[in-house]
Amino acid sequence: METQLESYSTHPAKAVCGEITVPGDKSISHRSIMLGSISRGVTTVTGFLRGEDNMATLNAFRAMGVEIEDDGTTLKIHGRGLHGLSEPEDMLDCGNSGTSIRLLTGLLAGQTFFAVLTGDKYLRKRPMRRVVTPLAAMGATIAGRAGGEKAPLAITGSSLKGISYESPVSSAQVKSAVLLAGLYAEGETKVTEPHLSRDHSERMLRHFGADIEAEGRVVRIRGGRELNGQAIAVPGDISSAAFFMVAGLIVPDSEILIKGVGVNPTRTGILDILRLMGGDISLLNSRDVSGEPVADILVRSSRLKGIEISGDLVPRAIDEFPVISVAAAAAEGKTVISDARELRVKETDRIKAMADNLRLAGVTVDEADDGMTVYGANGFKAFTADSQGDHRIAMSMMIASLLADGECTVHDTGCIATSFPTFLELFKQVSVR
Ligand code: S3P
Repeated sequence: METQLESYSTHPAKAVCGEITVPGDKSISHRSIMLGSISRGVTTVTGFLRGEDNMATLNAFRAMGVEIEDDGTTLKIHGRGLHGLSEPEDMLDCGNSGTSIRLLTGLLAGQTFFAVLTGDKYLRKRPMRRVVTPLAAMGATIAGRAGGEKAPLAITGSSLKGISYESPVSSAQVKSAVLLAGLYAEGETKVTEPHLSRDHSERMLRHFGADIEAEGRVVRIRGGRELNGQAIAVPGDISSAAFFMVAGLIVPDSEILIKGVGVNPTRTGILDILRLMGGDISLLNSRDVSGEPVADILVRSSRLKGIEISGDLVPRAIDEFPVISVAAAAAEGKTVISDARELRVKETDRIKAMADNLRLAGVTVDEADDGMTVYGANGFKAFTADSQGDHRIAMSMMIASLLADGECTVHDTGCIATSFPTFLELFKQVSVR
């Protein structure tokens, strides 16, 4: 499932206006398939994100014997219970999706069968030992390239024991892999992380009836308890909304309303960061849906200023740094991003990829090991950018093009389909030329 190369040419905009709905949250969509599949009874999912990443998870569970009906609006997952998955006949292809491969590794570690997980050329370069190490301590049998660091990963289901794991990284994928293995482990599994990462797994596990407690940076789960199917309504993805939030802020005379966005506090670092930069952002119609907070987000053009971003704000906005660097480049003064070394091991090295691309737009950027300093520029010069195969780099540079002084081109935009299949359509819809 390699993504296709495509290019997109775009012109600056006079304003960004309108009312939009962004597709469902990627993280919550993955988890709804996983938990629905290992629950008893039927789980229905509305608002599911039909991006390539989530379809990889869906196809993996179909390949393990789970019946998933899809009428185009609602998924109906016929759960097989905690021990009802069957051995896949072939390798499970996770495509570009780090969440699929890392969470599946945890979930498969405690099965009674053998499975192999692989992915595209980008995923096969990403670090996997961060999940293999704690899972092996629980008794998992996992082999992979480079001594277990890289996919393909071969997992021989084993009986697991609960552990107390102090994760060296604030990573929801690591935490979730250990918690999913913990469902199958004897006794209690405890995970502690340096800063709290997104807690969708904890919330959804509780919603499905798991024996789980979360307090601050510590989560405990006890294995063996069956889960029960639920009705899940997936909110809009704040990581997708972020592109249009930044567009609305940096392009003069703009006003944009993004409806039905998930505003889980472990994901709203982008709201805090943009407000600290001086962004005019209001949350309207706040409500709760399937155990997750949701609101409409209203954004108006603002004069942004540079700030310093570090510490626990970083995991709360981890996927938004490419577009935050565009906001920083459009701001007055410099923005310093630190404690963000994790950006180096995302779909691509996002520090380098954004530094390379922003420089093409005439922006001054200093790279650091764990972040970057972006010097605010007075508009961008017309550029030809390259996504380097990363969906969020492609979309960030499309947003930057709105402020350029001429026609821009972004190469390798096919990857946008991994997380935001309707991006180009919405981009055209809201751009006033
Ligand atoms: C995700 C966790 C984050 C994030 C990714 C989705 C998840 O990754 O970057 O897009 O759904 O758990 P890390 O756990 O590597 O920080």
